[in-house]
Amino acid sequence: MNEPLSCELSNAGSAFTRRSGLLGLMDDLAEANKSNQDTINMGGGSPFPIKASREVYTSLFQELANSRAEIEKLYGQYSAPAGNQETRDKLAGYLRKKFGWNVSSEHVAVTNGNQAALFVLFNMLGGPNESAERNEILFPLIPEYVGYQNLLLPGLKVRAPKPSIQILNDHLFEYRVDFSRIQVTEKTAAVCLSQPSNPAGKIHSETDLKKLDYISNEKGAPLIIDSAYGAPFPNIIFSECPPYWSENTILLLSLSKLGLPGLRSGLIVASPERIAAFSKFSTSLNLAPNSIGAHILTELVSRGAIDHLCSQTICNFYQEKIAFASSKLISSLADTPCRLHHMGGGFFIWLWCEHLPFLGRELYSRLKTKGVVVAPGEEFFLGLEPDWSHGRECIRISCALPDTQLNVGIELIADEIVDAYR
Ligand SMILES: Cc1ncc(COP(=O)(O)O)c(C=O)c1O
Repeated sequence: MNEPLSCELSNAGSAFTRRSGLLGLMDDLAEANKSNQDTINMGGGSPFPIKASREVYTSLFQELANSRAEIEKLYGQYSAPAGNQETRDKLAGYLRKKFGWNVSSEHVAVTNGNQAALFVLFNMLGGPNESAERNEILFPLIPEYVGYQNLLLPGLKVRAPKPSIQILNDHLFEYRVDFSRIQVTEKTAAVCLSQPSNPAGKIHSETDLKKLDYISNEKGAPLIIDSAYGAPFPNIIFSECPPYWSENTILLLSLSKLGLPGLRSGLIVASPERIAAFSKFSTSLNLAPNSIGAHILTELVSRGAIDHLCSQTICNFYQEKIAFASSKLISSLADTPCRLHHMGGGFFIWLWCEHLPFLGRELYSRLKTKGVVVAPGEEFFLGLEPDWSHGRECIRISCALPDTQLNVGIELIADEIVDAYR
């Protein structure tokens, strides 16, 4: 499916349909869903259907189905451009109370998920205008989410300087933002990062976020923090790490990794001016955001259920998976030069096989023939000069799997890598 198309396309049509890491991952996911039993899919970003959270959501849907007037309103009407007022009020109140932020409903809008929201943001902020041209999105630390590259209209570019690599011990390493290479200029439309990062599970310190925010703000660019896995929900973070906020920040929240990816819903928190612009652009694109996801979120927040769900159910679940898979991988690869990225959050393991005798893509293909799908690392090094071999030595492994599949998958990956070095 991820093949060039034969119909005639515009530049935008070609840009959005050409072979890419994201389209490849979504094809692998669809393939694994179809063939079901045989493939162990450790490639995509699907959340695990955690039993305890499914029960919460299913009973909310059942309640909703029993309230005829409510459900008919939700599916029968377009919501307001920035989403329904109750959701915006509730979320702003929640953020004020939990983090002391000075935000009102004017700072919040409902979105159709982070992917759609990022498309709006990147193209609303970047590209030619009357007085200047802000034509690049700066990613201060790569590897970054593979889907960012699929969101840029022709003319908008990615800039992503090399990070520095800190070796933590024999088994672990960590990427750090190399501030000596970070240059925010008049051309920068936005600085963007995921927190925790997908793929590496990197947590940026508050000091680094403040610094990035400061240098972005100086040049009139916002700092976009994509919290698809982060705080305040789903909060898959393995340490105390409240979300960062300033009037120059654009924070993106998604319901997907709460276990609701089918609802295609999320939220954006930003200055009222940016929220107003965002809502107008989104209305041109979608008419209105999804009301069902917003309703479910409003209920979770109103009932005070969201924090417990995130910290007790979702975060613990993934932390156990990561702990199991990483310790198995570390012991199986003890005699190789492989290292894992320090796991600050999310549900991926990012594995660096230094001096791997062949490319990560080759490892991906070899593993696929054995029935395990992983994500090849090079796709995550957005916009980086191709001479850096590091990306080709990495793979991303999802741990959002049942224990038996996780166990077998990790075993097959480790065997293949040990064999390769031999
Ligand atoms: C970092 C990151 N941002 C955005 C998205 C897209 O999220 P959504 O499902 O809310 O569109 C994903 C999905 O996996 C992601 O990992």
